[in-house]
Amino acid sequence: MLTAKSLFQEILDNDESFALFCSIAASGESQGGWENARIAALVPETERDLAPKITRHGADEDKHGRIFNALLKKRGLDPVPVPPETDYTMLLERGGIGLAHDQLKREEPLTVQDIVTYLAHSRVTEQRASEQMRMLRKYFADHPDLGRAVRMISNDEDNHLAYCHEELLRLARAGHGRTIQRTLRECALAEIRIYRDVSLAVMAHMGRILGWPRPKAALLAAGIHAMYVYERLAGWRRMVSLRTPARRNALGGPAGPEPELA
Ligand SMILES: [Fe+2]
Ligand SMILES: [Fe+2]
Repeated sequence: MLTAKSLFQEILDNDESFALFCSIAASGESQGGWENARIAALVPETERDLAPKITRHGADEDKHGRIFNALLKKRGLDPVPVPPETDYTMLLERGGIGLAHDQLKREEPLTVQDIVTYLAHSRVTEQRASEQMRMLRKYFADHPDLGRAVRMISNDEDNHLAYCHEELLRLARAGHGRTIQRTLRECALAEIRIYRDVSLAVMAHMGRILGWPRPKAALLAAGIHAMYVYERLAGWRRMVSLRTPARRNALGGPAGPEPELA
């Protein structure tokens, strides 16, 4: 039977698909790390308490990138080029979601509005990251090679999501509620579309590598389209709600140690 678990198992069992999976993941994580490091450097004076948390957020994402690369190395594999159509982070940025890299490359301080944009973008993408890692944790928490990495990254992504809720609620109380709701909605609607397109592209590559028969590839593509329909109708709302998280000040300390993978 075709399940999420059997699908991932198949991807993990083959060197070529595993290399592509880890390379895509590592690239997304390290782009996130760079973005956060730049945002931390450009935080406006009025939001400077946020800077260490943004730095920690970036340090976590960089760490995740290194973890995915270490998983490759452990298996004796090299990273492979990331096909542009599978580059989720880049496609979001190109789609005008979050802060533009051109802006982050300049040395001009950001505005509070920019911080709202950053946090709303993170609220939506960290929801995705948290859900994906929870799924991997559900199936592979006890996997001899991946278990530790998956558990650690999943815990970090839950922290990132909690932090976004907490900081957006703080800014909403400070009078930015309407802008936050509008920005969250725009981000979520764009994200679900880009996530669908990236999922289709990733699955097309995996299908070629793993020699999936046409009906299997078609079934998977249909599943991705159905997921998009659900998210467009109702699911997107889960990405824009704000509630006080159980974990408070989740990014208040330094980044945790890296798991030993080699
Ligand atoms: Fe991450
Ligand atoms: Fe994250």
